[in-house]
Amino acid sequence: MIARGNPDAFSSRVESYRRRVEEKLDAVINSTPDVPLSLREAMAYSVLGGGKRIRPLLSFAAAELCGVESAAIDTIAASLELVHAYSLVHDDLPAMDNDDLRRGKPTTHRKFNEATAILAGDALQALAFEILCRDEQLAQQPAAQARIVAALAHAIGPAGMVGGQILDIEAEGRELDEAALEAIHRSKTGQLIWAAIMMPSELASLAPEARNSLNAFARDIGLVFQIRDDLLEVEQDTQTLGKNSASDASRGKSTYPSALGADGARARADELYSNALAALDRVPGNSDGLKWVADFILKRVY
Ligand code: IPE
Ligand code: IPE
Ligand code: MG
Ligand code: MG
Repeated sequence: MIARGNPDAFSSRVESYRRRVEEKLDAVINSTPDVPLSLREAMAYSVLGGGKRIRPLLSFAAAELCGVESAAIDTIAASLELVHAYSLVHDDLPAMDNDDLRRGKPTTHRKFNEATAILAGDALQALAFEILCRDEQLAQQPAAQARIVAALAHAIGPAGMVGGQILDIEAEGRELDEAALEAIHRSKTGQLIWAAIMMPSELASLAPEARNSLNAFARDIGLVFQIRDDLLEVEQDTQTLGKNSASDASRGKSTYPSALGADGARARADELYSNALAALDRVPGNSDGLKWVADFILKRVY
């Protein structure tokens, strides 16, 4: 990682990138006309003022690597957070993980009601695609814009996040082997992380080998993210996490620590992280930002 104080370091831009995402999300949610007040409130509650914004940071870092202007990334970053927030609102519903706490606050269905939470999630998902399709900067490269929309749709669709979520729910109370667990984690969480990295790359012309290596990095760091998430549930307390640290155990979820033990899970995360960084080193360009976010993903404590 680059030393603190270096003005060129990605770490010195993290807070301004986070602020930009916050402002963009606020504008998107509050300037969309004709939204019923209760729905707008539930959407704002679910999206604004919380969250680590890891996916947007990955997009800004990927843009730095690929030499894509950061102004082209604001809408991509916002679309990722809209979709991510929708996935959390639905994931917390009684029919799914039945959680009461998210980002240190009551979950959306606890704050409002279930119907409002379901509809707010639906609305956030639609809005994510609307802003991508309407963005004037992305529209300057229509073929890339279509690939960006398709990447997001694929990542969160039946062969991606939603597919992973149903496997995760169906596996409750069953012991999974590592291969089955890996398949769930790669789809339910890994694919959106992958999209956060690959969507900006569509705006650049990467050589096929460089694109393959970036793909490999994106896939493995997505899995590291979810293994770390599983570990945090056993290592951390509810207050630090801002979500129930006993949720997985109480629902009988198979997780990396339950399948491999905490040390085994940590070793697997370390191994994937090393593979990911080796792949990233094969991509030409400034990869400091992606290294910074990858490091955060591996070592995060909340
Ligand atoms: C948590 O994601 C849910 C998973 C996909 C595992 P994050 O840890 O990125 O959640 P926020 O956005 O920071 O709250
Ligand atoms: C969340 O996974 C994955 C999605 C929202 C797609 P988890 O259920 O494991 O994450 P937390 O613990 O609720 O954040
Ligand atoms: Mg879940
Ligand atoms: Mg959950």
